[in-house]
Amino acid sequence: MPSELKYPGDGHIKSGDLSSENITANLLSDFWGKVLCYGAVNSTNTLAVDLSLKYPESEIAIIADSQVKGKGRLGRAWVSPPGCNIYMSVVLHTEIAPEDATLLTISAAVACASALRNKCGLDVNIKWPNDLMVCYRKIGGILTELKSGHGRINKLVVIGIGVNVNSRLTDFPEELRSRATSLKEETGKYFERSGMIADILNELEKWYKKLLSEGRFPLLKEWRRLSSTLGNKVRVTMGTDIFSGFAEDIDEQGRLILKLASGAKMIVSAGDLTELR
Ligand code: BTN
Repeated sequence: MPSELKYPGDGHIKSGDLSSENITANLLSDFWGKVLCYGAVNSTNTLAVDLSLKYPESEIAIIADSQVKGKGRLGRAWVSPPGCNIYMSVVLHTEIAPEDATLLTISAAVACASALRNKCGLDVNIKWPNDLMVCYRKIGGILTELKSGHGRINKLVVIGIGVNVNSRLTDFPEELRSRATSLKEETGKYFERSGMIADILNELEKWYKKLLSEGRFPLLKEWRRLSSTLGNKVRVTMGTDIFSGFAEDIDEQGRLILKLASGAKMIVSAGDLTELR
């Protein structure tokens, strides 16, 4: 059983520019059955799993103003200060095969990059697997968690999205400052979060429905178009192993096809990638 939810406001806090009413008002359909906004939470991904039991029939979007234990890829922490950024998790009830779950992460990356490009006019790219980048600095990231046999729900996909919107470089720990950025740092402008969240949710709905109706190829084509990785020399770290090579393509499951100096090809499904310039 999930722990009793300890979060006040039942998903209807108003925190500055963040409110479920403002987000919902900008959605193009009722695809997202529940849009819930909270103040400080541990992690929206963790809360999403609990809330999926409370609302088992709905596609849900959970947004927080800040996270105390924000989770990043590869067991890292995600810095989540209040009042400035987007921390959102969406729950999709899907029958997609576990090996194809990466296609949902890819849908989220394409959706975020498109929404941010349209809103801010920035050249937002995707670094494999799903980092959102502007000028080689990270502006956002995606963490997908797959739960099976959770309560009455068979398969549950939680896609966590973090976007640095109005934070300043000084909000990041010293060691991240040369690698991270925000929309505010890049444009000098302040962005209202509710409208931007609605744009991301509208794009995500569009790409998810396209994936279900047209299959993976239109999505993979768009990912390739937005990728900053393909066609470049890269270094991939997998645990203690490091490989360098040429990022040739992604395969049908979104895995990276790396051409090594020997000419051999290697398929990489997870790892930390650096683009070598
Ligand atoms: C990455 O390391 O690139 C993935 C970062 C994902 C961060 C988001 S913020 C909302 C959601 N809740 C979490 O705890 N993590 C994700």
